[in-house]
Amino acid sequence: MTLLVTNIKELLQVREQNILKVSGSEMKELPTIKNAWLLIENDKIADFGTMKNMPKITADQTIDATGKIVLPTWCDSHTHIVYAGNREQEFADRINGLSYEEIANRGGGILNSVKTLQDTSEEEVYEQSAKRLKEVMKLGTGAVEIKSGYGLTEKAELKMLRVIKKLRENYDLPVKSTFLGAHAIPKEYKNDPDAYMDLVINEILPKVAKEGLAEYIDIFCEKGYFSIKDTHRLLSAAKEHGLKPKIHVNQFNSIGGVKVGVEHEALSVDHLEVMNDEDIEVLKGTRTMPVALPSCSLFLSIPYTPARKILDAELPLALATDFNPGSTPSGNMNLVVSLACIKMKMTPEEAINAATINGAYAMDLSETHGSITKGKMANFMITKEIPSFTFLPYAFGTNSIDSVYINGKLI
Ligand code: NIG
Ligand code: FE
Repeated sequence: MTLLVTNIKELLQVREQNILKVSGSEMKELPTIKNAWLLIENDKIADFGTMKNMPKITADQTIDATGKIVLPTWCDSHTHIVYAGNREQEFADRINGLSYEEIANRGGGILNSVKTLQDTSEEEVYEQSAKRLKEVMKLGTGAVEIKSGYGLTEKAELKMLRVIKKLRENYDLPVKSTFLGAHAIPKEYKNDPDAYMDLVINEILPKVAKEGLAEYIDIFCEKGYFSIKDTHRLLSAAKEHGLKPKIHVNQFNSIGGVKVGVEHEALSVDHLEVMNDEDIEVLKGTRTMPVALPSCSLFLSIPYTPARKILDAELPLALATDFNPGSTPSGNMNLVVSLACIKMKMTPEEAINAATINGAYAMDLSETHGSITKGKMANFMITKEIPSFTFLPYAFGTNSIDSVYINGKLI
């Protein structure tokens, strides 16, 4: 099966040589071909070039993309798409003056979603989650990471991870799985958090690893949640089981989580709303990808990750949604890209790099996804007729995505 896309106004993120990520000032460059064609053979990108020099190609299907832009699908490297129910009451409570922290301290927040998840059957959690996954795919997400973390018992964590596995089996996009048993301290362990860490490390983690249910380990390293000591302990144990860290750090406070992540060769450190100079310094020269989640900042009215500070230090940066019921009930990567430009002062080129190739890196997928490169998987999208790619983040809230292809197939 061959698919030829012709008359593409602009083909974005074209990388002749495969690169794994882009950093600092490199992110200002978004390689593009104007007036381009793109050839897909089965599920892979076979070739591309300018219309002027297009060889004679007979394809099974040809799409005329006059006036439209083509780019790789978004790589959303941080989500909690698998959950049950919603928390719209907490949203209203926050409008009426309560803080996210106050809501959590009353037993709401993450623990609210934990109760709902525990009380919902695996089939029902799957149905609710699949609906969200389909919705974000339509918006251009072509690779996704999903975390557990609303179970907090062996049974409920395994239930979440099995739902993630089932999503991977039933949908064509890559779905990466992360074990986030250390997301919050369950109320039964309020007075003995160490015992909960023992449970996660000695009981749940070995089962997750044995069943091959996760490739990554995560922890919410934050005041009131899990300490630096807990983080060291968990990441050391996870390494024994072959799970790589991708961790929640510096959302509300800088307590040294970035450093621990780097010491444990984390694939990514995520959130980073609060970053001091030392946090930036320790990331230099490492393989750890900093990940910003601007729609979480929007929803909670908290600071945005200081992207300029990170990029000026020649570090890379990826963008992801954090789609979850409490801090970001949205999985729209287009909005994330807009917010990165509007609120974090990233240029459209930087934001698109961060949401494609760097997002792929943060899921160990940049060998196969995240750019228009021969041999990579044919995960790409065609926009509506728009004046330029800058229009994508500029027209925030407008859906400029016309069609999305995963593995060469229209979804
Ligand atoms: O990434 N910060 C920790 N976890 C989620 C929020 C979870 C929730 O409120 O349900 C986050 O923002
Ligand atoms: Fe998160």
